[in-house]
Amino acid sequence: MDVNKEEKVLIIGAGGQIGVELLEELNKLYGSSNVVAADVKQSPAFANNAFEVLDVLNKERLLEKVKKHQIKQVYLLAALLSATAEKNPLYAWQLNMQGLFNVLELAKEGHIQKVYWPSSIAVFGPTTPKQNTPQYTVMEPTTVYGISKLAGERWCEYYFLKHGIDVRSIRYPGLISYKSAPGGGTTDYAVHIFHEALKTKSYECFLSEDTALPMMYMPDAIRATIEIMHAPAEKIKIRGSYNLGGISFNPKQIANEIRKHIPDFKIAYKPDFRQQIADSWPQSIDDRETQTDWGWKNTYQLPQMVSSMLDNLK
Ligand code: SER
Repeated sequence: MDVNKEEKVLIIGAGGQIGVELLEELNKLYGSSNVVAADVKQSPAFANNAFEVLDVLNKERLLEKVKKHQIKQVYLLAALLSATAEKNPLYAWQLNMQGLFNVLELAKEGHIQKVYWPSSIAVFGPTTPKQNTPQYTVMEPTTVYGISKLAGERWCEYYFLKHGIDVRSIRYPGLISYKSAPGGGTTDYAVHIFHEALKTKSYECFLSEDTALPMMYMPDAIRATIEIMHAPAEKIKIRGSYNLGGISFNPKQIANEIRKHIPDFKIAYKPDFRQQIADSWPQSIDDRETQTDWGWKNTYQLPQMVSSMLDNLK
């Protein structure tokens, strides 16, 4: 892996579900004095790092912080997720798009050398093939989050093609983690279910029992993020965003797996507006380009992920 410890790193949205864990890993790779955490508010997770209060929509302040810390790499994780975005579509569009433009423009102006920006399975829509969804396929997302991610992917490729910006991106599936809580996603049930299973041995799921979605355990997702960012540039052939396949399961299957550890765990189903979002997304992902181009391999399957989540949350 190609780690240049001279390059200082900024994580924007460091207090979020991905940010907290990515910060830990980047601290190990670069040393905490070379990693700066930025978010709209302070968090105990930033104890070892320099911290900056930052709203990514404020480009001037972003530039000031980039200069102050001599940042070379930016991980832009600040965004509204699918369910929250539907409640405030115009703000979601502004945050998700303008935040990206601010970072890409600073890269174009030569202040930043490398950018990481996450995309999502939400770029796909109801007209996309649902099983083993390929990298290249019909993409007509129906959520504001998905529209912003698809547009963002196109802009990332545009800045690479027109301005040579080294921007790298992954389409994350639903991410399952115990260190940090998710916020505002449609796949979040697969995290809440563990907390409730341990606390009350019961869970009311906001998706129906047979709603299969692509998911991934956070250690795999963090490893993917680190691997794509440290792969030699010539291996990154896709400058929009890479499909990332992990595990695929539905609420009934994860509940059955939890029951192997907590036999009297009960689940009830009460689908809400998030059902429609989930129904528009793929059920499983084909990531052969990702495997071929930079050697990606997922490790956690459903049983290992469930045991690990329960052990760690206990
Ligand atoms: N986990 C995200 C969400 O549900 C998808 O990228 O919004």
